[in-house]
Amino acid sequence: MHESGLSPFDFAAAAERRAVQSHADRLTARGLKSLQDDEGRVDRWVLKPDGLPWRFDFTKQCIDEGAWSALKGLADDAGWKEAVECQFRGEAINATEGRSVLHMALRGAADDGFQVQGQKVMSDVLQTRHSFLSFADDVRSGAYATCDGGRFTHVVNIGIGGSDLGPVMVHEALVATRLSEERSTDVRFVSNVDPSHLDVTIADLDPAKTLLVIVSKTFTTQETMANAHRALAWLKGELGDQAGHHIAAVTSNVEGAAGLGIASDRVFGFGNWVGGRFSLWGPVGLAIALGSGSKAFLDLLEGARAMDQHFRSADAEHNVPLHLALVEIWNVNFMGHSSRVVLPYAQPLHRLPAYLQQAEMESNGKAVGRDGRPLAWDTHPVVWGEPGTNGQHAFHQLLHQGTQRHPVDFIAFKEPMGGDAHMHHLLLNNAIAQAEAFCMGRGMDAVKLEMEGAGTELSAIQALAPHRCFSGDRPSTFMLGDALNAFSLGALIAAHEHKIFLEGVFWNIYSFDQWGVELGKVLAKQLDEGGDEMSWTPGTAALRQEIQSGH
Ligand code: F6P
Repeated sequence: MHESGLSPFDFAAAAERRAVQSHADRLTARGLKSLQDDEGRVDRWVLKPDGLPWRFDFTKQCIDEGAWSALKGLADDAGWKEAVECQFRGEAINATEGRSVLHMALRGAADDGFQVQGQKVMSDVLQTRHSFLSFADDVRSGAYATCDGGRFTHVVNIGIGGSDLGPVMVHEALVATRLSEERSTDVRFVSNVDPSHLDVTIADLDPAKTLLVIVSKTFTTQETMANAHRALAWLKGELGDQAGHHIAAVTSNVEGAAGLGIASDRVFGFGNWVGGRFSLWGPVGLAIALGSGSKAFLDLLEGARAMDQHFRSADAEHNVPLHLALVEIWNVNFMGHSSRVVLPYAQPLHRLPAYLQQAEMESNGKAVGRDGRPLAWDTHPVVWGEPGTNGQHAFHQLLHQGTQRHPVDFIAFKEPMGGDAHMHHLLLNNAIAQAEAFCMGRGMDAVKLEMEGAGTELSAIQALAPHRCFSGDRPSTFMLGDALNAFSLGALIAAHEHKIFLEGVFWNIYSFDQWGVELGKVLAKQLDEGGDEMSWTPGTAALRQEIQSGH
């Protein structure tokens, strides 16, 4: 922090901020295309962290060394290194809730020595890890059998937000690890309070062969509780009093789970120092282990832990999460971009954009600083995306030719995800081509030349050429993994978690609460209770009337 008590990101006051902005103005005028001519760009802007199967390419971000050192000056002023150590020391950095933020301990090893506000936690973490992974393996092998002594063929995970998005994203991503299995366990996910979600998910399931996993940090979330009660009734309809044998729960509220009649040896707990959206590394990831086995789960943890170690030890110039965070800050606060697009060129990562939406937007979508005052600068951009190449046939038109620029994160892998190497090349070449097109575009001269070459008439060239030009100068980061597996995925997710943390430090906001989800819940509850004593806006009153009248 500055001596004045201002965050270095206090845009109104900081001279440093003006210095960074002057770099942004200079580089905007110069353009991303022209930066590609700078010598040594690949050496400087491609990071390949030791021991991690990733290559992070920032060459197509509109940034240069001058801009970086000004940005890094802001990061140093914000004390990013010390902030990281505070988090890893287990201090209560989630100040609005008085909690530590130590999801890294869930993927830690015995000698990592994590402490939460002075209390050692690794022995509990390892014990819980052992018990939920053993349970998962027992279910998969049939050692933990159904009421009638058979094997569980299906698992239904019931949870929402962090109790759904992390597990489902990773489960889907690891599809390849399951392809070779002789008999896999079919894991499904139900999150929405829309009853059709549960209906459709269990329509073809036999309760006698299905395990329910109810996941809720608080065990009070309306959607999850409603789905859990309904699913329990479905189980009871077939299994009667034995239904409890087909249920497990994951929660910080162990008493809440006991209230639902779930046996304590199938309730897996975790501390309130793990935020819901950062919780997949512990028992919240039970569905991942049920689907892909404990070995894959442990690999996931190892990959994330390797990224933790990189984050803590790498200097600024080689630090991947710091680059991800500062590039985001650069794009939002200095280049004026208001969204970021996540494009996994990997179909198994189709839930990654949704997962990152919660992790990033629920953490850093804030407008009040740590001092309780309104911020004078923007915080998190909108995160959105779809797997490539599907997006190319949907919204890429806007990304290439729209009036606003939306920085893109490409995520791709060298090794094929499926059996066909040729198709994988098609996929990768599309990703490379898109990144190149965003950066370099295609100018009027080239378009005209091409049309002339194709024998187009002059009048048609004049009419059509402007529509066929691409401005270029549209930034992207290209993250290339060796292969999509549990280890590489763990590292990728952890890199984003650390990015989120750093951005909170730079924006001077509290990243680990989510008060912004509360008001809607309160109003929905009032509506559930009748809502007649409330004064609703005319539109809302009319809407309620319309629904109540059944028309
Ligand atoms: O309403 C938002 C939220 O609290 C998220 O932060 C959380 O991941 C989700 O709801 C689910 O909460 P729980 O795990 O307590 O059911």
